[in-house]
Amino acid sequence: MKEWYDAIKEAQSVEKLEEIRISVFGKKGVLAEKFAKMKNASDEEKAQIAKNLNTHKSSLMNEFTAKKITLQTLQLQEALKAEYIDVSLYGSKSSAGALHPVMETMDRIVEYFSAMNFAVKTGTMVEDDFNNFEALNLPKYHPARDMQDTFYFRDEMLLRTHTSPVQIRTMMSTKPPIRMIAPGAVFRRDYDLTHTPMFHQVEGLLVDEEGKVSFANLKYILEDFLKYMFGDVEVRFRPSFFPFTEPSAEVDISCVFCKGSGCRVCSKTGWLEVLGCGIVDSNVFEAVKYENVSGYAFGLGVERFAMLIHQIGDLRSLFEGDIKLLEQFQ
Ligand code: PHE
Repeated sequence: MKEWYDAIKEAQSVEKLEEIRISVFGKKGVLAEKFAKMKNASDEEKAQIAKNLNTHKSSLMNEFTAKKITLQTLQLQEALKAEYIDVSLYGSKSSAGALHPVMETMDRIVEYFSAMNFAVKTGTMVEDDFNNFEALNLPKYHPARDMQDTFYFRDEMLLRTHTSPVQIRTMMSTKPPIRMIAPGAVFRRDYDLTHTPMFHQVEGLLVDEEGKVSFANLKYILEDFLKYMFGDVEVRFRPSFFPFTEPSAEVDISCVFCKGSGCRVCSKTGWLEVLGCGIVDSNVFEAVKYENVSGYAFGLGVERFAMLIHQIGDLRSLFEGDIKLLEQFQ
């Protein structure tokens, strides 16, 4: 048996030791073999041999266990040395993400109107003709449909061209009064410096009893909102047209770049258009079967707000995912 004690003592690796374990203690190992041979011996001898073999077995096992711990410890120490990481070294530069300027702007808009008790509603991006046009006083072949270059699917389905259909959906499913905004993506067939096929709008709608909602209410909240978003700007309302509001207005702020003295961005006018709004047209209320109510509505483009707030020249750059641009908004 001495050779096996030596073998254990001399083993240089955990793998080698494992080989020895199998040779000694395994099913076909030395000990098993010696125990098997014992059956030919006389009973007295058997007891003696068994005792002897069992002694060897347990002391070999002790040697083996001790050696295994030594080898494993060594192996671990070597691994620790080889895989050492100096945590005090400078790492390679990693860049932190940030909210996209469009989403950040959207959050601020939502924050303002939430504080004013407007509920946040969402609709669907794939809409039908009724919600996107018909119920908004835009019957088929109405020339104003041309204002919105629509992406159509088969069966009169389309990608919503504005968030106004959320007004309709909300009124169809809720009784007045209503005080809501609808932030979300909208789609139009357009692509240039100031237009992308997908952009974001926030719609606003307030409905209450007949005679309770006036243009003055609308004017007040939009002025307050625009000052919240742009700081100390002047606000003016210009008569305009939307099929779903009457009267309608477009809202301008004094140019945030030149403070109203006239520059390239405001085309020397000193004003920037930022919103569409008006008093909800009675045809819209008729379409959703509301009676004896009055209301105002408004809609704005979030990208336009973001561009003016952050002085971004090309709208398309907001959608390129350029880390150099996005890093500036941390
Ligand atoms: N839906 C209009 C647009 O996309 C904006 C708007 C909304 C105007 C509500 C008036 C009232 O241009």
